[in-house]
Amino acid sequence: EGLDLAALERLAVDTAHEAGRFIVDERPGGLGVAQTKSSATDVVTVMDQGCEKLLRALLGAARPDDAILGEEDGATDGTSGITWVVDPIDGTVNYLYEIPAYCVSVGAVVGDPTRPGHWRPVAGAVYNPVSGEMFHARLGGGAHLVDAAGQRRRLRAGEVGTLGQALVATGFGYRAEVRRAQAAVLAELIPHIRDIRRAGSAALDLCAVAAGRVDAYYERGLNPWDLAAGWLVATEAGAVVSGLPGRPPAKELVVAAGAPLAAALGARLADLMTVAD
Ligand code: IPD
Repeated sequence: EGLDLAALERLAVDTAHEAGRFIVDERPGGLGVAQTKSSATDVVTVMDQGCEKLLRALLGAARPDDAILGEEDGATDGTSGITWVVDPIDGTVNYLYEIPAYCVSVGAVVGDPTRPGHWRPVAGAVYNPVSGEMFHARLGGGAHLVDAAGQRRRLRAGEVGTLGQALVATGFGYRAEVRRAQAAVLAELIPHIRDIRRAGSAALDLCAVAAGRVDAYYERGLNPWDLAAGWLVATEAGAVVSGLPGRPPAKELVVAAGAPLAAALGARLADLMTVAD
């Protein structure tokens, strides 16, 4: 395809890093539990928008012919065939409460990220500016983690093969009906697994699968910007990322797991989801 994937990966890393510094450095004082929910939420929205603006400026300056799809401002067209799919703050509730599990997610994808099965990430970075951890990957190049001390290591997903041994991350959407169905699925799943984690950032959950910090992650209702970079980090670490059995990852379901666990978890979730719907 003639794409310089290493250059795209570097740009994703540099951009996620700069945007991550921005959301920490510009974080308004006094944000957090003391504030009334609506005004605090508005402040987070303002930070989200400011960060996306920065991401668009950085990416647009470096690669003016690429398209950009972001959580806040939708899509801008390009001519290169590359779309940057960005989440300026993934884990906004954590950001609000100052729980150190939020990130900037920057993915370069080919295809149409609004059509499941018609796109895939080719480079990406997920940066947690509080822990200083930078997860990054490019297609065929492996997934890596650079920690706050600058140590770089290659990531490998876990090898747990049975549900009973699996530590499984998940997340919940914002709408009440969706949350009720998600809770019903979880109630059926949790007796059969080691335990559950709800960290509050889909992108970091996908990176946790890549690092073997959890054995699997699943969620319903994800958007392309939650998924783009973390999907590649997970698969380049040897994990399998899919949707419902036989389908690509999509809003209906995203499942990421080490290869030995992926099929069993996907099948179990598909069963439970039909019951809960
Ligand atoms: C949310 C987080 C959360 C997940 C939600 C996402 P946001 O993204 O990733 O973990 O459960 O589905 O919407 O809103 O913080 O960018």
